[in-house]
Amino acid sequence: MDVNHNKNMKNEDMLSPLAEYEECDFSKLLEKPRLLSIERQRSLEERSLSELSIGISPCLSSRANDLNSLRIFEQPDFICSPVGRRSGINTPRSQTGFDPHPMVAEAWEALRRSLVYFRGQPVGTIAALDNSEENLNYDQVFVRDFFPSGLAFLMNGEPEIVKNFILKTLRLQSWEKKIDRFQLGEGVMPASFKVLHDPVRNNETLIADFGESAIGRVAPVDSGFWWIILLRAYTKSTGDTSLAELPECQKGMRLILSLCLSEGFDTFPTLLCADGCCMIDRRMGVYGYPIEIQALFFMALRCALLLLKQDDEGKEFMERIVKRLHALSYHMRSYFWLDLKQLNDIYRFKTEEYSHTAVNKFNVMPDSLPEWVFDFMPVRGGYFIGNVSPARMDFRWFCLGNCIAILSSLATPEQATAIMDLIESRWEELVGEMPLKVCYPAMETHEWRIITGCDPKNTRWSYHNGGSWPVLLWLLAAACVKTGRPQIARRAIEIAETRLLKDHWPEYYDGKLGRYIGKQSRKSQTWSIAGYLVAKMMLEDPSHLGMVAIEEDKQMKPLLRRSNSWTL
Ligand code: GLC
Repeated sequence: MDVNHNKNMKNEDMLSPLAEYEECDFSKLLEKPRLLSIERQRSLEERSLSELSIGISPCLSSRANDLNSLRIFEQPDFICSPVGRRSGINTPRSQTGFDPHPMVAEAWEALRRSLVYFRGQPVGTIAALDNSEENLNYDQVFVRDFFPSGLAFLMNGEPEIVKNFILKTLRLQSWEKKIDRFQLGEGVMPASFKVLHDPVRNNETLIADFGESAIGRVAPVDSGFWWIILLRAYTKSTGDTSLAELPECQKGMRLILSLCLSEGFDTFPTLLCADGCCMIDRRMGVYGYPIEIQALFFMALRCALLLLKQDDEGKEFMERIVKRLHALSYHMRSYFWLDLKQLNDIYRFKTEEYSHTAVNKFNVMPDSLPEWVFDFMPVRGGYFIGNVSPARMDFRWFCLGNCIAILSSLATPEQATAIMDLIESRWEELVGEMPLKVCYPAMETHEWRIITGCDPKNTRWSYHNGGSWPVLLWLLAAACVKTGRPQIARRAIEIAETRLLKDHWPEYYDGKLGRYIGKQSRKSQTWSIAGYLVAKMMLEDPSHLGMVAIEEDKQMKPLLRRSNSWTL
């Protein structure tokens, strides 16, 4: 495969205004005092959403002018060029003279073995290359699983496969999707797809699963979000805006957005979901408003805002996005956030309050606070809890949602710091002997029976129920770089390096500390491999962070800051 790295690069003056204002140099993050670098990035990366909403309504056309005037204040070193391209297709080069761990080369080989080709072009990576276990659907390309693979290839200067993946999945989106006799929304992206070889006709075709074959028959709400976030990562990394600008990509984005911005009976700006519609794709009590989906929703909305064109249809969506982002960030930062002060407030909550003066708006019963949360909550630190809905707060910690909250700046800088503080002070529980717990703690006995429906794959401290997933390492590494705490990621990577290769890249580990290879864990699980590589490359060259992170919008700060008390 010959990849022409320059083909997709455009020089600065060819970038669209949208792409221009999102550029920034994340490589400065670790070199400069944090606050200063964040201030500087904002000058270019972000315009506040309220500024933007003024720009959009009533006259959006003024936006390009605003952006031009913004550019006057740019200093050359604030301008981000597409990330450094590397020529080595097979062996990645180290930019900083940093000695690559021997596992890195092995990981790249394994990642390349996982490539899936369609009519001669690489279009994705297989979920797992493990023939010792029954395949089920692990021989498919999963949209969510491909995300870290895509990042690894982008970071290594191989954007072509990501482009192919984006275009192929876009074609699949336009299929008619039915579960029994019920037709799914037009915008739904597949959970996974597979290339079928017909040896008789010497032909290849694609088949996709939108949830109609998945265990539990749930559509993947996260797939569309990952797709948008990957499109932005591709655009940011290559400087090639032409892919996102294609009419079919713009339409694909709008279709995804239509699904989650549509009006209904909702009283909250969060997205109502069925159980198992994301990484945790089995019944695990994550129905309602799971943090994973809310954080991905927020991130995807912010990415879409950067990628949508300012044509009539695009503008309409941008207005809706801006409104939703305001409401969503307020809701999440106020009601999902938990720290010692907030926990104490809930502990003393009055119930049965009525009207606008209610403090306990969702009528959460203090008796529903689980015992473990009192010990788990450190003096310094906090996190976004798993779910909030009427009379229900799921206090479990979920790794993916919290890391995406940091990367998307759904978490304020104070909250992002608090999340990292929590990880540090609850290291044994969340990292233990293998990073990282997908959620904490596990459900046991009666609770497990009721909430998972007696799922034997999700017994306590296994799989989704408190299992440890190496793929999450990349999210931790990115969150660490964004918060200026790379040493935390370094520690976690070192732990993973003692076992991952030796254990043949398991999908997940079991046990309170993650000491045991998961009972039904696949080996050669691609996202475990890619997750490790991305984490390594992120630490080696922090400018990669720009692909997966967006800076805070100061205008979105909540008025209510009761839960940040300890930072005062
Ligand atoms: C499992 C995981 C899911 C993943 C899939 C393929 O079903 O729960 O998140 O996408 O395996 O690896």
